[in-house]
Amino acid sequence: MREIQEESDWISPEIEREVAEGLGIPVTRVQSVVQFYSFLYDKPPGRYRILFSDNITDRMLGSSALLEHMLKRLKLRRGQTSPDGAVSVDLTSCTGMCDQGPAILVNNFAVTRLTPRRIDEICELIRIGAPVAEWSSDFFRVDDNIRRSETLLTHLEPGVALDAAIACGRQGMLDEIKRSKLRGRGGAGFPTGTKLEGARNAPGAEKYIVCNADEGEPGTFKDRVLLNSYAVRVLEGMAIAGFAVGSTKGFVYLRGEYRHLLDKLQAEIELMREERRLGTAIRGCAGFDFDIEIHMGAGGYICGEGTALVESLEGKPGRPRVRPPSMVQVGYLGKPTIVDNVETLAHISEIAVEGGASFAKRGTHTSTGTKLISISGDCERPGVYEYRFGVTVSRVLEDCGARAVTAVQIGGASGVCLTPDEFSRRIAFEDVSTAGAFMIFGPDRDLFDAAHNFAHFFAHESCGFCTPCRVGTAIQRNIMDKIAEGRGSRYEVNDLMRLADFMKKNSHCGLGETAGNAVRDTLNKFRPAFERRLHARDFVPAIDLETALEPARRITGRDDADAHLVTEA
Ligand SMILES: Cc1cc2nc3c(=O)[nH]c(=O)nc-3n(C[C@H](O)[C@H](O)[C@H](O)COP(=O)(O)O)c2cc1C
Ligand code: SF4
Repeated sequence: MREIQEESDWISPEIEREVAEGLGIPVTRVQSVVQFYSFLYDKPPGRYRILFSDNITDRMLGSSALLEHMLKRLKLRRGQTSPDGAVSVDLTSCTGMCDQGPAILVNNFAVTRLTPRRIDEICELIRIGAPVAEWSSDFFRVDDNIRRSETLLTHLEPGVALDAAIACGRQGMLDEIKRSKLRGRGGAGFPTGTKLEGARNAPGAEKYIVCNADEGEPGTFKDRVLLNSYAVRVLEGMAIAGFAVGSTKGFVYLRGEYRHLLDKLQAEIELMREERRLGTAIRGCAGFDFDIEIHMGAGGYICGEGTALVESLEGKPGRPRVRPPSMVQVGYLGKPTIVDNVETLAHISEIAVEGGASFAKRGTHTSTGTKLISISGDCERPGVYEYRFGVTVSRVLEDCGARAVTAVQIGGASGVCLTPDEFSRRIAFEDVSTAGAFMIFGPDRDLFDAAHNFAHFFAHESCGFCTPCRVGTAIQRNIMDKIAEGRGSRYEVNDLMRLADFMKKNSHCGLGETAGNAVRDTLNKFRPAFERRLHARDFVPAIDLETALEPARRITGRDDADAHLVTEA
């Protein structure tokens, strides 16, 4: 569908019918896919599709004022397409450019470091109808911003890791990964060797290795840097994982927001095939066959969840599966599948070269190796930092030039909010476990704004499959809106706490389980930020029921006394 849309700009009803006929499936199934993904359009968007990244860090850099400025210049309202069909402007969830924001996507390509002047230039290019391909390449410059490296963010000669794995043998390589005590870097920290062994021992000859490059957690962008500058480590890591498991096929599931990386990665894969680092008999080793395909996502944070990602890879809406069975047994197309984070796979190359025991010497006893951290917000040097596990939060803050810090949101919107009295804690699975994001808030920031932004994020990104999350995230957002508007009371505050607890206990997947974290943490640690907004002493209904009944009265043609809640005295 993405490829069709690249040609036709949107998916018309005729296209939906043709696709359904071609695949021999009901048209409703095609429609359900188009409607699920934010970047698939069933109505024509503007020829220039502008999406403002709406993470709190973009807002802290002034994105709201820039959005207003652009709407004014283009004489548009947010979410509207101009009458001539030229341009549409809207918001989208974090685009993974927090170290160089505010950022937008123009026809899926990232434009960074927005300023009022840059907005004016873009508006002028739109006015004269300049094709996006002809815009200055400086608009689309995405920097790595690597500020600190240890072992992973270093050059690795192509083929060296593959040769080392071949020398080690399939079982030997698996043993080295287990010996390294490598744990998944996507958030959950599951032992990678155990996972690979599970897939290796699962029945069947067809198995898959999937690189999870969805990186949708707000504030996280370290996988973007790995894929841009250290793709050799990631792609060879996939091949080595395939070698250990007995898999011949891999996929990179690349988030739609990273469209700018696609051609470069495709070229890297092509080069690997030419140099026999992919394909059959890799590096001349008979029986070592492996190839990689890139699958582009189409907008949807939930598609980073392993089972939802595999659903999406199969061409369906990305909704999490019911487990068990685990993906290691029944994954892509019902076959044993490994879904690993980009950083985890890059570490596999490292382990192949230096051996598991040497790798395990870095970090702590239960969190071995290094960790990449994406740093944004109020600091002098935002970017990607590599540390050995066990580093303290205060050391990281010092290195990036963060002063007088009020709070750090670690692990994105679904993570934890730490205050200065907790900065001696360590980044490690046994202490502060994180997929790798630090969003820093200085003394002038209002933490309510961050929690409010995250509440909107979760309500927008909930896939709608289970009621606790679908309804819970919507109620949470509405309550936060109400409090922001000054109509909240202590009743709402209590409701927010109950809601966070309810979603955590009853949701089907990690999105719903963590959707209340930020609001709950902010309430616990920054209660005054809420209290000063609670102007109502008693409960005020969030909606005016009398007004809400108006459409029903119109449809039924009734306007008698019984059709009103409040009757004249
Ligand atoms: C809502 C949600 C979003 C997720 N997004 C990502 C993601 O973007 N990248 C990622 O590697 N893991 C993500 N995960 C974790 C994956 O489900 C999975 O645990 C991970 O890809 C496994 O790889 P690892 O063992 O290398 O950590 C997400 C989980 C949830 C619940
Ligand atoms: S918790 Fe949310 S995202 Fe996960 S399945 Fe339920 S509705 Fe979907």
